[in-house]
Amino acid sequence: MKFFIDTANLDQIKEANDLGILDGVTTNPSLMAKEGIKGIDAVMQHYKTICELVDGDISAEVVSTDFATMIEEGKKFAAIHKNIVVKVPMIKDGIKALKWFTDNGIRTNCTLVFSAGQAILAAKAGATYVSPFIGRIDDSGWDGIELIHQIRQIYSVQGFNTEILAASIRYPNHIIKCAEAGADVCTCPLSSILGLLKHPLTDIGLAQFLEDAKKFA
Ligand code: E4P
Repeated sequence: MKFFIDTANLDQIKEANDLGILDGVTTNPSLMAKEGIKGIDAVMQHYKTICELVDGDISAEVVSTDFATMIEEGKKFAAIHKNIVVKVPMIKDGIKALKWFTDNGIRTNCTLVFSAGQAILAAKAGATYVSPFIGRIDDSGWDGIELIHQIRQIYSVQGFNTEILAASIRYPNHIIKCAEAGADVCTCPLSSILGLLKHPLTDIGLAQFLEDAKKFA
């Protein structure tokens, strides 16, 4: 399973990248706004900076909802760097845009996916990635991990090549459950990635080893 970091914060991206296990970055308009990025030039520059920091797929999300403008936005994003993946919302014009980008050699990430039916449409349109929002599904009282299982089953049975990119990760166990369910990618906040490291028995064991090491230093 590939690990993406789900942020537009450059310090967090660098920290995750320094671990040597980062395969890419996802952003969305809310994450960009959180970093205080304003105006199209600043947005484009920010994506360029992220592409220079991380050697992996970088999702850049369109903010229009009609086919023609999505295509224009996506073409501009794709021209920034070869690793840019254009993120398109799961709406009617989004499906048409996914198909257009696929036919024109531009890779895509279909975002805001909350059902197996939506995941089938994204795959039919040739999306490179489909992003089911695990945490938001859990928040609404359903089971986000169950959706990953369902999409995995459908894609395997049908032979769809679209990669399942589990998004809206809230905590480390989501990552473990996504790996178990066969997600191809998990995009995570830095805190969830670092949370995988933690175990009290590791800390206790290491403290003991370091104490004992003094005896033969
Ligand atoms: C990533 O592609 C998504 O936009 C992101 O994971 C959404 O996460 P949230 O539900 O925590 O906002």
